[in-house]
Amino acid sequence: MPQNYLGEFYSFLRFPSVSTDDEYKANLVECADWLVNKLGSIGLATQLVPTRGHPIVWARNKHQPGRRTVLIYGHYDVQPPDPLELWDSPPFEPVLKDGYVFARGATDNKGQILSHILGIQETIEQNGDLPVNVHLVIEGEEEVGSVSLPGFLNENRDALKCDVAVVSDTGMIARQTPTLSYGLRGVTAMEIKVTGPKMDLHSGVFGGAVANPITALAQLLAILHDRDGRVAIAGFYDRVKPLEDWEREAWRKLPVDGDKLILEETGVPQLFGEAGYNSIERIWARPTAEINGIGGGYQGKGTKTVIASHAFAKLTFRLVPEQRADEILELAKAHLRKNLPKGVTMEITTGHSGPWYITDPHSQLGEAAQRALRKAFDREVALIREGGSIPIVSQFREILGIETLLMGLALPDCRAHSPNENFPLENFEGGIRLNKAVLQELA
Ligand code: BES
Ligand code: MN
Repeated sequence: MPQNYLGEFYSFLRFPSVSTDDEYKANLVECADWLVNKLGSIGLATQLVPTRGHPIVWARNKHQPGRRTVLIYGHYDVQPPDPLELWDSPPFEPVLKDGYVFARGATDNKGQILSHILGIQETIEQNGDLPVNVHLVIEGEEEVGSVSLPGFLNENRDALKCDVAVVSDTGMIARQTPTLSYGLRGVTAMEIKVTGPKMDLHSGVFGGAVANPITALAQLLAILHDRDGRVAIAGFYDRVKPLEDWEREAWRKLPVDGDKLILEETGVPQLFGEAGYNSIERIWARPTAEINGIGGGYQGKGTKTVIASHAFAKLTFRLVPEQRADEILELAKAHLRKNLPKGVTMEITTGHSGPWYITDPHSQLGEAAQRALRKAFDREVALIREGGSIPIVSQFREILGIETLLMGLALPDCRAHSPNENFPLENFEGGIRLNKAVLQELA
């Protein structure tokens, strides 16, 4: 691998492009500008498309009639690096250790999308052109639900007319194991705020006579699930399609022990989840309700005898076929309202949603993707579903009428969204080979 590839990867990683926090807005623009320069320098016509949020980077080669057109999608925004104290090295100062690059965004998604860019660069250097027409669309809002991208797709629907999307923003089930993902879970978000007294109160003077909003919130959150890990919201599973035997069998034959892997990677004392399913089935094919954040009351050092005025929690639900986000939010609201303890009020706000996705890995394009994966990694391809979500993928289908080939390069221990996120150079190089192979196969 040429030495400057690593330098360019580091430059890309040094931008703290955290999309959820407006404090970083200028950093996202700088990061997008860097991409525009990079893509322009390899000969692609590139533009920065402003949005109400973070800008979209859009590049294309010279399109020729009669060739397939491929949309390569990725994102340059990253998740917040917090909690900072759990990182072994600063999140936006990339370092290489034992063949792994450590930084926020190394895997999700900068390493993966940059490997595609470098694959395109190499092909152009070697052949003067690509074998297909290409659109590269790299957005800055994936980690906040791709708010502006559907508008961009709609506005540029004709210009973006293409045959298929290629996305490397999913997982590889094990090292050196090429993986085609044919399913994603959906996601939908809400925030609950529980209010008790109009101000924080002395817990000795008032405690016992007024409801404590933190207690009320804890009671609500505790009845989101039953003791066996099933979501206890009435109607939650009504549309869930049962996992079919052929798929369970296929997953059991994959060259990984999901339960063991998750125990080791997470450090939990034991596995827990919905009864009747193993870990892989729970993650890929079953819906969840997760509490992602909780707050209220005194968070400083020592003790403060207080009854807080408010408490809040942030929730997301992962969705599977055929669940609908708006319906799940309504069911959840009804469940929370019905069970709201006395003496407090509750406000619920809903956040972003993205639908689940299922495609056929054996379609003509799916088979082309499998050939490319085999070529790039010289191993049999694992066909999997994923627990994570990429909301825009179902919009590609709805707005552009295309299917998406999900060819991930993230390893199970890449620590996406966690401290010490990392990407192995092996996969960076594999991604470059994959890009070349897939454009060839799709041609
Ligand atoms: N790359 C992930 C999605 C992913 C991870 C898919 C692992 C499959 C396996 C993506 O960047 C991501 O984190 N998406 C968010 C979407 C949400 C913020 C709308 C997610 O899944 O939480
Ligand atoms: Mn992510």
